Amino acid sequence: MELFKVTIDNKTIEVPPGTTILQAARMIGKEVAPPAMCYYSKLKTSGGYCRTCLVKVSKGSEKDPRPMPKLVASCRTTVMDGMEVQNYTSPEVVEARKGVVEFLLINHPLDCPICDQAGECHLQDLSYDNGRSYSRYEFDRRTFDKIDIGDKIKLHMTRCILCYRCVKVADQLTPGRVHGVINRGDVAEISTYIENAIENEFSGNMIDVCPVGALTDKTFRFKSRVWFLKPYDAHRDCDKCSGKAVIWKYGNEIYRVTGRKDQWGEVDEWICNTCRFDKKDVKDWVEEGPRKIDRHSVISQNQYESGTKFVASPQTLPNKQLS
Ligand code: SF4
Ligand code: FES
Repeated sequence: MELFKVTIDNKTIEVPPGTTILQAARMIGKEVAPPAMCYYSKLKTSGGYCRTCLVKVSKGSEKDPRPMPKLVASCRTTVMDGMEVQNYTSPEVVEARKGVVEFLLINHPLDCPICDQAGECHLQDLSYDNGRSYSRYEFDRRTFDKIDIGDKIKLHMTRCILCYRCVKVADQLTPGRVHGVINRGDVAEISTYIENAIENEFSGNMIDVCPVGALTDKTFRFKSRVWFLKPYDAHRDCDKCSGKAVIWKYGNEIYRVTGRKDQWGEVDEWICNTCRFDKKDVKDWVEEGPRKIDRHSVISQNQYESGTKFVASPQTLPNKQLS
């Protein structure tokens, strides 16, 4: 098969035609992969909304070496043979990404101290790694009432960054989607329109794909900070899903159940609501062992493997390399 050669931040890889710059960068490794707040490899047509994955194409291709005139969204731009791309090596990209983070934070409340997503929030990580330490915004932020969408999921629209991932989960995993984004511009919001409940067996996956704390698990809200819990891979016989999940324990008590996520923070296998919300007894699960947190997260601090304590190295640079 014909392969295209692409160079990203001075690292070269050969990839099949049709591969996006973001996918190629992920194949090279975390040190060159742009952050992604809306793209989700497991969801069709995701990406193109948040602009955090902007990169500079300094050489279009071998045939046409002209650079692209503007920064491009790497999750939506496919590679060409001989293409050269700059991500962290481009001061222009680093500066533009700061602007994108500032834009995403314009309406996002700084309620991390009371937000259940703290410690595993992609926006929190993004702003630490790629953002400015101050905001120039001086107007009031948008406010919304909190909404129950179903008896197990809470929507804090103030925290939503309109990445559309939950909409795509509902569209692609569940029959009869009942929610979406209504209105446009700064009044756009996730809504069931008439406050319908979202009730189907895979709706809980919306919580896992939400990069911020806009969709939270009502069976876990305010029970504990995530870094006080110990995550374990565990499975059970389930007739609705693979039954492979992560159980988050405090002592011998299960506080919450989530899907297993890969190094990009994306769910490996979707789990059903029964596993997620109703199986909180340790007897429900067969434990496989402590889970290794790959993602840059406070949760990875002071976790242990095989009973040995290890301390993750400080992560301060955007192009950090995690084990
Ligand atoms: S609620 Fe979460 S997953 Fe849904 S669009 Fe908003 S930020 Fe994205
Ligand atoms: S990840 Fe590419 S635009 Fe959001």
